[in-house]
Amino acid sequence: DIRKTFLSYFESRGHKIVPSASLIPNDPSLLFTVAGMVPWKGILQGTEPAFATRVADVQKCIRAGGKHNDLEEVGFDGRHHTFFEMLGNWSFGDYFKEEAIAMSWELLTSVFGLDPNRIVVTTHYSDDEAAAIWKKVSGKDAILLGDKDNWWSAGDTGPCGPCTEMHYDLGEDMPGGLPGTPDEDGGRFVEIWNDVFMQYNKNEEGKFVPLGRHNVDTGMGVERIAMVAQGVESTFETDVLKHILNKVCEITGKTYKENNKTDISLRIVTDHAR
Ligand code: ALA
Repeated sequence: DIRKTFLSYFESRGHKIVPSASLIPNDPSLLFTVAGMVPWKGILQGTEPAFATRVADVQKCIRAGGKHNDLEEVGFDGRHHTFFEMLGNWSFGDYFKEEAIAMSWELLTSVFGLDPNRIVVTTHYSDDEAAAIWKKVSGKDAILLGDKDNWWSAGDTGPCGPCTEMHYDLGEDMPGGLPGTPDEDGGRFVEIWNDVFMQYNKNEEGKFVPLGRHNVDTGMGVERIAMVAQGVESTFETDVLKHILNKVCEITGKTYKENNKTDISLRIVTDHAR
């Protein structure tokens, strides 16, 4: 339902819906497809023609090495995976920040029906424009953060730019603090969606060359939005992964949520088995 709802929302707003590309990218700088934008790197850089100006898909991704490596985090929290699926919408020289943010907000609150009060947004400190758009669209004051949180690129070179992240508050019963605070990884706030404004190409010399046109690249984890929609505390308890977790418990004779150390192992085996 989440995949279908996402794709039909963007289709009704003029996006061409395409299937997931291979996990093995046609790209010497990456071992695996780490994000929905990987198949579109040439288009974003302007070296390949765009087959459409608005595109959306659900891309299979692996983050188990290189710049985007989640391997060491898997199991220690309830939200990282080596393999996951990314819902994404793109503008290749078409809409930019205003429309991208407005659509993200509308989809999360009016279509998926998430409580607006539970959504927290962050923007890059240099991006006054994105913060002003959030204020206008949602009434929210964005939390301004630096490159670690709000600047995105697929690899050490290639298309990149400032981004704005949407986080969901799982509630005060969960430990953890707001994005940008020392206990941001505590679990209370989960990042669900990232809108990247691809404005630059980082070249081999490390220089940021303006791309000369405005592109948007977004990514929302299927497992994470499922976790929020299904009201569970981790992606491992969603209908995407729970059956694997149950089977791992059955085979090992262990019970989930009895012992913290065992839970980490059960989550790791579940992720890797998937
Ligand atoms: N490419 C961006 C990401 O993976 C959307 O977060």
